[in-house]
Amino acid sequence: MQRMKYIIEHMEEGFSEWVILEYAQIIRDIGKDNLILTSLPENTTESDIPQQLRDLGLQWSTKECVEIIQAENAGEINKDQVCLLDPAAEVDLVPSEKSKFKYFVFGGILGQHPRVDRTGILRKKYGFAGRRLGKLQMTTDTAIRTTQRIIENGVEFNKIKFLDYPEIKYNKYESTEMPFRYIVDDIKGEPILPKGMLELIKKDADQSIDDLLIN
Ligand SMILES: C[S@@+](CC[C@H](N)C(=O)[O-])C[C@H]1O[C@@H](n2cnc3c(N)ncnc32)[C@H](O)[C@@H]1O
Repeated sequence: MQRMKYIIEHMEEGFSEWVILEYAQIIRDIGKDNLILTSLPENTTESDIPQQLRDLGLQWSTKECVEIIQAENAGEINKDQVCLLDPAAEVDLVPSEKSKFKYFVFGGILGQHPRVDRTGILRKKYGFAGRRLGKLQMTTDTAIRTTQRIIENGVEFNKIKFLDYPEIKYNKYESTEMPFRYIVDDIKGEPILPKGMLELIKKDADQSIDDLLIN
């Protein structure tokens, strides 16, 4: 069976804790051999990659996604086989496109609210076919999880259970609204977040309360 390749074009400065947790979860979800993180700064060495991602066997490159795809295909690139997951695309991804696309490219971007179109940089640069996963902004790990369900599990987008802008309750009294769409875990009935994300959200919230008190 042809395995899908997932490519994340890293577009953040360095690796924040949030990004590390997202990427770590993606590796666990799709397997280290099916993911490559591209477009890291020219002078990147293995020691610049966070330990947690190295331990999980992250494959990475300073090359752009196009060069990686060319290298895998004897120097050729068949753009029709490449799909850019793009919140501004006009068409949604459907299960039958499993036979069309081999590579799925995502922006390694932390979402902003309101949404800023940084995926547009990839759209203009490469000219790959764009596909949307509904009109709401997802985190990169959610976008990959959704693509995996559609393409590898053959589930239609509108059959996936999502939760939009969930209130994440991190203790008895406090909660924070996440401005993204998440897949719901069927068993727990809660949005699927990367491992460790809840603790990070709580830490960030405590930090901002501390900052407020100090200022
Ligand atoms: C947090 S989103 C980035 C959204 C961001 N505000 C931007 O600049 O486009 C990170 C990546 O997940 C994928 N993604 C997120 N939501 C999506 C959607 N609704 N449809 C298609 N792809 C999506 C895209 O590949 C995007 O680059």
